[in-house]
Amino acid sequence: MNSFKQMKPLRMRSKLKKTRILLKQPKIARHIPLTVSFSNGNLQFMLNRYRMVYVKPDQGAMGVGVMRVEKHQGGYQYQYGTRVYRYSSLSALCLALRDRMKGRRYLIQKGIRLLRYRQRPFDLRLMVQKNPARKWEPTGMFGRVAHPRKAVTNGSQGGSIYCASRLIRSYAGKEQTRRLIKQMKHIALLTAHQLGGVNRTLNELGLDIALDRKLKPWILEVNTRPDICPFTLLKDKSPLRKIIAYGRWNGRRYRLTCKKARRGN
Ligand SMILES: Nc1ncnc2c1ncn2[C@@H]1O[C@H](COP(=O)(O)OP(=O)(O)O)[C@@H](O)[C@H]1O
Ligand SMILES: [Mg+2]
Repeated sequence: MNSFKQMKPLRMRSKLKKTRILLKQPKIARHIPLTVSFSNGNLQFMLNRYRMVYVKPDQGAMGVGVMRVEKHQGGYQYQYGTRVYRYSSLSALCLALRDRMKGRRYLIQKGIRLLRYRQRPFDLRLMVQKNPARKWEPTGMFGRVAHPRKAVTNGSQGGSIYCASRLIRSYAGKEQTRRLIKQMKHIALLTAHQLGGVNRTLNELGLDIALDRKLKPWILEVNTRPDICPFTLLKDKSPLRKIIAYGRWNGRRYRLTCKKARRGN
């Protein structure tokens, strides 16, 4: 038996597939924004329902290809990077989006209006890992504040890394912040059990969680190969130490130099 092959984690790259698995657990499902595969008809349906949606590659990463699409009274628009493109009809919008997609599989997701820090949207990254006792454990989190002119928070897109509770504290008191963090860790654990139940080779996950204005957590995506370099930018180094130690147990080695993400101040 080739034990190396057996240990090598099967990557679950498709966001749609992961979403389908997570929707089977009702306690997680209520935290997942409606997600459908891209088609012109689905875009029309989603825009009529939510006015603002995200269109993203099914197998994307680092915010590449992620677009924020909106319907207004006068027409439609989408943002990609720092640029906004406007159209008067849905068919013109669809043509432009399809041109960007180049035949690749994309999905459409209900847009969450993210909380803001100094006018810039932010979301949170939660890390869960299998610990040496082979149990899932939340091992760290951080907040990501979007580049001033972008609709994605990824560090690789110019986002800044902050201590999660500092960002949440601008909307919630101490006790509420504590409860919210506990709730997000619980969601992360449920997610790990659900995905881990389907794919036993998984040993770490990074959840992108957004908070809406009612402070409800929404799972935007679940990474099966999360980048841990943003943890090096946090003042508190204890999560980083634990993550590296557990990662070693799990046969992981990490890149610890942050190329693009910045430290928030
Ligand atoms: N449904 C959504 N509502 C609001 N913001 C979103 C949504 N989906 C994605 N985003 C923003 O875009 C970023 C990148 O999307 P994500 O699904 O995490 O793809 P990637 O794999 O490229 O990181 C998120 O971190 C978030 O800032
Ligand atoms: Mg992401």
